[in-house]
Amino acid sequence: MNRFARILGTGSAVPDEILTNADLEKIVDTSDEWITTRTGIKERRIAPPGWASSDYALIASEIAMKTAGITAKNLDMIIVGTVTPDAPLPSTACILQNKLGAVNAGVVDLVAACSGFIYGIAFAKSMIVTGQMDNILVIGVETLSRIVNWKDRNTCVLFGDGAGAAVVGVSHKPGGILDTFLKGDGSLSHLLEVPAGGGRRPLGPDNMNNGDRYIHMDGKGVFKSAVKAMGDAATNILKRTGVNSGELKLMIPHQANIRIIEATAKRIKLPMERVFVNIHKYGNTSAASVPIALDEAVREGRVEPGDKIILVAFGAGFTWGSALIEW
Ligand code: ACO
Repeated sequence: MNRFARILGTGSAVPDEILTNADLEKIVDTSDEWITTRTGIKERRIAPPGWASSDYALIASEIAMKTAGITAKNLDMIIVGTVTPDAPLPSTACILQNKLGAVNAGVVDLVAACSGFIYGIAFAKSMIVTGQMDNILVIGVETLSRIVNWKDRNTCVLFGDGAGAAVVGVSHKPGGILDTFLKGDGSLSHLLEVPAGGGRRPLGPDNMNNGDRYIHMDGKGVFKSAVKAMGDAATNILKRTGVNSGELKLMIPHQANIRIIEATAKRIKLPMERVFVNIHKYGNTSAASVPIALDEAVREGRVEPGDKIILVAFGAGFTWGSALIEW
């Protein structure tokens, strides 16, 4: 019997704590007007002390599994996309597996920054259609507030915390995840990086306090690459599947900057009414951005059975990708 991979349920979770643009005006030399016009962000959620990525991943996962109608013991694999794990070791996926009691699941973290959820969906689809697994939990989660330099106005206004999850399961009805497209370009990694804290530059007295353990970004360079790559990811997958953008019910893009989102929509000639935007509420939550938006779109009734939707993301690395889904 033919096997197709379908998203059976989604969930999301964000911290209760809200940091508004007005709050940021008190921390760095910025303004609500600058942040809103340059990015579209009005506020973001910040995890309180003691909370880590696996805590939000757990809440989002439980909602996704309940919606999908499966229990943790049914999971064959847990894939966690994150650049802000609870700790360097073990993986956040292992910590989550233990909290869920998903005793039959393989577990792995995936580092693809803002494209992490789409990479996870691609790997889940492959394992399901080839018959290796039946139920895979894919999560995008970040506590970026932990690696943001709160003295750097170029970056601290952009990022937020949260988690989104999806259960990908086997289906014998055609449709579901129709295709995925993944790309990367490591030659531009210096435009968006956390320079210290890894094997090459371990944390020590020389870099603990100079800002190198936090996100460094060349905003303009990232912006240019993001516009091109997200447009390419969207046009490529449409061309490959023979789907016209007129057939799309909704595009769910990575929420990094409203101007990048608008440029991507324009490239595939999609009106903004058919683009899901929640950047004003959460800012850029990296790997969590697409699955949080997907979950909200589903719960708001903007995605219904039979609808064709496209997910598109771009992130540090650089990495980018897209997924075309028939819901
Ligand atoms: N408040 C006020 N002024 C600011 C702020 C701020 N928060 N941040 C920067 N500025 C200043 C800069 O110092 C600079 O001043 P200068 O010209 O005197 O040097 C000026 O504003 C730059 O302004 P613009 O050129 O208009 O900024 P731009 O239009 O490039 O917008 C932004 C900056 C928002 C960062 C944009 O470049 C961007 O969104 N880049 C892409 C980010 C992104 O997509 N990241 C995705 C991947 S994230 C991940 O993978 C984790």
